[in-house]
Amino acid sequence: MSKTPVAELIDASSARFTYGADYNPEQWSPETWLEDARLMQEAGVNLVAINIFGWAQLEPVRGQFDFSALDAVIAVLHDHGIRVNLGTGTSSPPPWLSYDNPELLPMMSDGTRRAFGGRQAFCPSSPVYRERSLVLVEEVARRYGSHPAVALWHVSNEIGCHNAHCYCGVSAEAFRRWLRARYETIDALNTAWGTAFWSQRYSDFAHIQTPRLTVSTGNPSQALDFARFSSDELLGQYRAELEVLRRHSDVPVTTNFMVTAHIRNQDYWTWAPEMDLIANDHYLDNRLAVPRDELAFAADLTRGLAGNEPWLLMETATSSVNWQPHNIAKTPGELVRNALTHVARGADGISFFQWRASLQGSEKFHSAMLPHAGVDTKVWRESVELGNLLGRLSEITGSRVVADVALVFDWQAWWSTDLDSHPSSEVVYLEQVHAAYNALLAAGLTVNMVAPGAPLDEYKLVVVPSLYSVSDADAAVVSDYVAAGGHAVVTFFSGIVDEDDRVRTGGYPGAFRDLLGVRTEEFFPLGHGESVTLDDGSSASLWSELVHLAGARAVSRFDSGPVTGEPAVTTHGFGDGTAWYIATALDPAALRRVLEHAVTDAGIKLPEIVVPGVEVVRRRGAESTYTFVINHTDTAIPQPASGEELLTGETIAATIVVPPGAVRIIRSSNQAATTGRATHDRHTTGIQTTGLQTIGEKL
Ligand code: GAL
Ligand code: ZN
Repeated sequence: MSKTPVAELIDASSARFTYGADYNPEQWSPETWLEDARLMQEAGVNLVAINIFGWAQLEPVRGQFDFSALDAVIAVLHDHGIRVNLGTGTSSPPPWLSYDNPELLPMMSDGTRRAFGGRQAFCPSSPVYRERSLVLVEEVARRYGSHPAVALWHVSNEIGCHNAHCYCGVSAEAFRRWLRARYETIDALNTAWGTAFWSQRYSDFAHIQTPRLTVSTGNPSQALDFARFSSDELLGQYRAELEVLRRHSDVPVTTNFMVTAHIRNQDYWTWAPEMDLIANDHYLDNRLAVPRDELAFAADLTRGLAGNEPWLLMETATSSVNWQPHNIAKTPGELVRNALTHVARGADGISFFQWRASLQGSEKFHSAMLPHAGVDTKVWRESVELGNLLGRLSEITGSRVVADVALVFDWQAWWSTDLDSHPSSEVVYLEQVHAAYNALLAAGLTVNMVAPGAPLDEYKLVVVPSLYSVSDADAAVVSDYVAAGGHAVVTFFSGIVDEDDRVRTGGYPGAFRDLLGVRTEEFFPLGHGESVTLDDGSSASLWSELVHLAGARAVSRFDSGPVTGEPAVTTHGFGDGTAWYIATALDPAALRRVLEHAVTDAGIKLPEIVVPGVEVVRRRGAESTYTFVINHTDTAIPQPASGEELLTGETIAATIVVPPGAVRIIRSSNQAATTGRATHDRHTTGIQTTGLQTIGEKL
């Protein structure tokens, strides 16, 4: 089923960006609500998420509902022309629920329970939680299901942020039900879990527990199935709420995903089809080396979940967060620049957490659109500026990001790769994915993210980073794609096990061995901090392996370390296509070189000019292409361009100079771009281009 266009949420007859925030009116007086609504208008806000944490206010006592405050808030917003992204309110149960039913408090892997006092303190499998939460949803949906202010339903909040895994007895029972459905017989489960090992053979489903802490290492296949079960279990809660909403309302329904570096517990490829539109929450993680690269990655992955259609940024911070060790404030201009980076990568709506900074509670030092210091602030001015800009950019909505290459990403491989007792604990899935992604980003390429098994035919190049676990069928999709003329790059520790975490014999990288034309006999992981050199001058770390050529050609070889003289990077003609293998963790520059080589080989033109810290991304609409030039650096950057700049109104003939920290969006006609490309010789004229299309393709 196709998604609801984000840009039509506010008004189906006139597409526009949604703009707003989470709003927690429970924390404020009715006088403040009025001031808030007036200021929201001033900032160009058109959509606010409310009732996210409303349960305790709506149902202060079991079964007794009081909607007076929510009615009044919705009326104020409606009167001011602001539409509502209405929370079902189920994300944080009120104190009475866990007081009456303490067994629904989540249990940790060590068997201890967590107490009330934070949020999301419930067991995902609790029938009591399910029942009470659906009673609430029923009340909310019945009351507001056809209210004209309601533009979108916001089921719960960041489902599974804190309570994705519960190890209690009730969860164990649910896990057993899930396992029975998956395996039908205990023999099939024993085979899948490899229970011949360490005397773990089960004779009855009843004996199976959640993977609580064990004295030794646990069963990895059990851990993997528990991760799958846990993702499904919370998706079940989403479905249950959706079913109630549907009975009372035609308004689109979604929940806010957490596609981000530090959260991995939901397999969003399985969740995405159930959403009416894809919404994501993203916060810069200042613990990463280059946080903005992860912003680009997360935005591209969110777009992948949306089938490369526009999506909604449901939460981000106007400045600092409160939950990192050092909560770095955004520099002047960063709020607008980062928001427009999400837009460049497909967002058709931007919302912040939150509207007005809290005075109490653990998030009182989290930034908001309206800071403690009030409206005479950088953050407020930039919030207003962004609302204003988005208001002028409506024509961009609905356009699709133009991508050069595909990258296979998988939550289940994330879970399995990072299990313990592997050759190196330093081979971390997301780090290897980021390494490949960042090298493509540094080369000036735009990446579409695809699930394992997804069709690849529209891409000239597919990158498969460290896909440790993969099914036969999903591996065959990559092989068939190459056989039919595609190009693929696979990096080390891929194809090793099947979906049960069972090793593939006959040599690594198992599932991709024939495709890659190599056979690895043994892994030689490197020690912490150790690096090796390759015969092309590259350096590498973390990993090496003894690769035998079985049809492939060595592009480079190890020049030091445990497998000196043996292949490190290989290429293999397979059917009508080519498959590359990278058998080590190349340094970033070397990885970029190899990927650029594969890119060029695949017939993709590399950008002629790439400036570190400058992103160039294109969105293509029916008539025009919009080239975003995002300058994260502190110097002015000239870029070849022609067309009309949408933020300043300038007409650009040949070059645009993008000021430090700024974003420029250049519209070019798709017609002109085609003509321009056909007639223009950019090799001899350097920066003189016609048609903006050429920018993305290549500057
Ligand atoms: C999200 C959450 C919000 C708020 C925000 C702070 O995880 O949905 O309620 O806590 O983070 O960054
Ligand atoms: Zn539980």
